[in-house]
Amino acid sequence: GFDVARAAEIIEGLKAVPGATLPILHALQEAFGYVPAGTVRMIAEALNLSRAEVHGVVTFYHDFRAEPAGRHVLKLCRAEACQSVGCDALHADVLARHGLDWGGTTPDGSLTIEPIYCLGLCATAPAAMLDGRLIGRATAAGLDRAVAAVRS
Ligand code: FES
Repeated sequence: GFDVARAAEIIEGLKAVPGATLPILHALQEAFGYVPAGTVRMIAEALNLSRAEVHGVVTFYHDFRAEPAGRHVLKLCRAEACQSVGCDALHADVLARHGLDWGGTTPDGSLTIEPIYCLGLCATAPAAMLDGRLIGRATAAGLDRAVAAVRS
């Protein structure tokens, strides 16, 4: 569970801000590392929105996590330049190697793989980012080595 009192405090502190939904979600993710599902109802009540509206915002923006991330986070770029060099096949391979779907975390909690939409490395597509470190010309073998190195 998450700290409900802390969440309530964050929501209360930001609810008067115009377009408060996004600032609140960012603040919650900053505080907890993810947006706990239980906060959707709290935000909806504070802002007089439906739960579906709040949930829609959470799922529309790829920045928000519904669960805590693993100790290491691999982000794979799915935007246009990376698509044009065939990132889909690479991504399917990488996800399968770790037995994950997008946004999933390995059972040992060591790795989460998430999509991202342009890392500014289009010239060296396909691009990835591991724990904040950019990786250009990504290959399945190269990503395996990078993941193994941070995990060990
Ligand atoms: Fe992938 Fe820009 S589209 S880095």
